Amino acid sequence: MKRVFLAAVAIAAISSAQSLSFEIYRSRVEPIFLKHRPNHARCAACHTASASNFKLEPLVPGADTWTEAQSRKNFDVVSRLVIAGDPSKSRLLIHPLAPEAGGDDFHGGGHQFDSKDDPDWKTIADWVRSGK
Ligand code: HEC
Repeated sequence: MKRVFLAAVAIAAISSAQSLSFEIYRSRVEPIFLKHRPNHARCAACHTASASNFKLEPLVPGADTWTEAQSRKNFDVVSRLVIAGDPSKSRLLIHPLAPEAGGDDFHGGGHQFDSKDDPDWKTIADWVRSGK
């Protein structure tokens, strides 16, 4: 009886770890990658071409955002760079964060977020946290 209960808990834990929301990703997180943020190049300016694991789809010429099919591909890529429920272990959030704020020492695109109070950082963190 006890064993059956534990198995059920384990299954619940696995399925909840994969519950990152595509809708929140598409409406709130993905626009940040295209946004002109003061003093910073846009994430997408580098991350449609760079050879890192954060590789976004190139925009269709003339388009100012991704198609839904492209967003789904981006979502798959970006989901692999986060640990649902844990922003502080999520590469997407820690790699571009300033070292003084707990980020990595080096990011090829510089310190995109000065602190965890940056509104865009918080938006991404909220999405990651809600995927728990
Ligand atoms: C000026 C170009 C540039 C910009 C702008 C830029 N990056 Fe980067 N980024 C790089 C380069 C180059 C690398 C690969 C070298 C490294 O690991 O830092 C990288 C690596 C990364 C990685 C690690 C991917 C992996 O392979 O694990 C993440 C996550 C990341 N960037 C997030 C971001 C986010 C989020 C933004 C926007 C807020 C951003 N970057 C803006 C150039 C850029």
